Amino acid sequence: MFELLKEQPEDKILMLMQAYREDPREAKIDLGVGVYKNAEGKTPIMRAVKAAEKQLWEVEETKSYTGLAGDVGFADAMFDLLIGDACPRDCVAAAATPGGTGAVRQGFDMIRMANREARVFVSDPTWPNHLSILKHMEMHIQPYRYFDSETRSVNFAGMIEDIADARVGDVVLLHGCCHNPTGANLTLEQWQQVIDTLLKTGATPMIDIAYQGFGDGLAEDAAGLRMVVAQMPEVLIAASCSKNFGVYRERTGLLLAVAQDKVRRQANQGMLNYLNRQNYSFPPDHGARLVTMVLQDDALRMDWEEEVREIREGVLALRQQLAGELARLTNSDRFAFVAEHRGMFSRLGATPEQVEAMRVSHGVYMVGDSRINMAGLNKDSVPVLAEAMVAAGV
Ligand code: LMR
Repeated sequence: MFELLKEQPEDKILMLMQAYREDPREAKIDLGVGVYKNAEGKTPIMRAVKAAEKQLWEVEETKSYTGLAGDVGFADAMFDLLIGDACPRDCVAAAATPGGTGAVRQGFDMIRMANREARVFVSDPTWPNHLSILKHMEMHIQPYRYFDSETRSVNFAGMIEDIADARVGDVVLLHGCCHNPTGANLTLEQWQQVIDTLLKTGATPMIDIAYQGFGDGLAEDAAGLRMVVAQMPEVLIAASCSKNFGVYRERTGLLLAVAQDKVRRQANQGMLNYLNRQNYSFPPDHGARLVTMVLQDDALRMDWEEEVREIREGVLALRQQLAGELARLTNSDRFAFVAEHRGMFSRLGATPEQVEAMRVSHGVYMVGDSRINMAGLNKDSVPVLAEAMVAAGV
């Protein structure tokens, strides 16, 4: 029977990881998948996470199942980190999921259960896996303008015009911070206009937040999300701990459904539990428990926040170095946007041919749409990338 199955397209980001591994050249630069790397090209276990893991080994007494929605302590700690006091805790249902992708998938599932005809408005461009999952689920995708490829900043007028078309029963997917793949983000004034527009349409926002702390700061990166939560009657939030806790392979994420009251929250919680049960039963717990320990212990939390700050400032310094190098080589400020963007990614605006030319000539690997992972650079490879860009005529 399986001969009837059609071959599925391979994921471009994961294909790129493979191609990089297979390149025999010594001098090659991996700017592909969104994984943080330090100056030595390593993805270390964060200090506080390592310490928590050691403690956990001492105190953990069972590997029996947690609750269907995961450990409530994890949901509480993540609620504080993401939402803070933007809305009452007892209006928010939450379920742990396998990574941020699991949360996105469960969120889409919940939308589809509520309305088979829902259109999901997605930024153009967005994380390719958003599109891939929506297609797989046979849901309606409605792209909205987001990125101005001339200025490499947000095409805000286009975005507002497009999301104003959403209706009750539609969902508008927003990136909480550090937009993936562009690095171009909304200002707080723009978040407010998005909220005003959504309130007029009656559509429901869903916020995917995977890089909190990597942009301007932990609270700063959640500021837009908190405005949405404080003002909109219902919101879905898909959060990932993969990047800001560095627990990628532990698959640690959370889906939150914000409602107006406790009664609705109760019904939403039932739905989240149900979806977990159907899709994978109990969510993974190890990463979630480490995250909870880090967030609840003063000393661990301080150290974690410090390490997130080091990462954020390191990435920002690389942005400034790259923008400076490009300004020097091109004698122009065409690439000033690199220092303006925030988070792990920037979309450079190179053509697929130029991306390929950079790979061939300088061993620089980036996603075909010219998204680069800034954390794949270090101060020695920044000039190589700048040179490759200029040589390819970007
Ligand atoms: C990325 O965008 O590179 C990351 O979110 C990793 C992934 O799963 O695609």
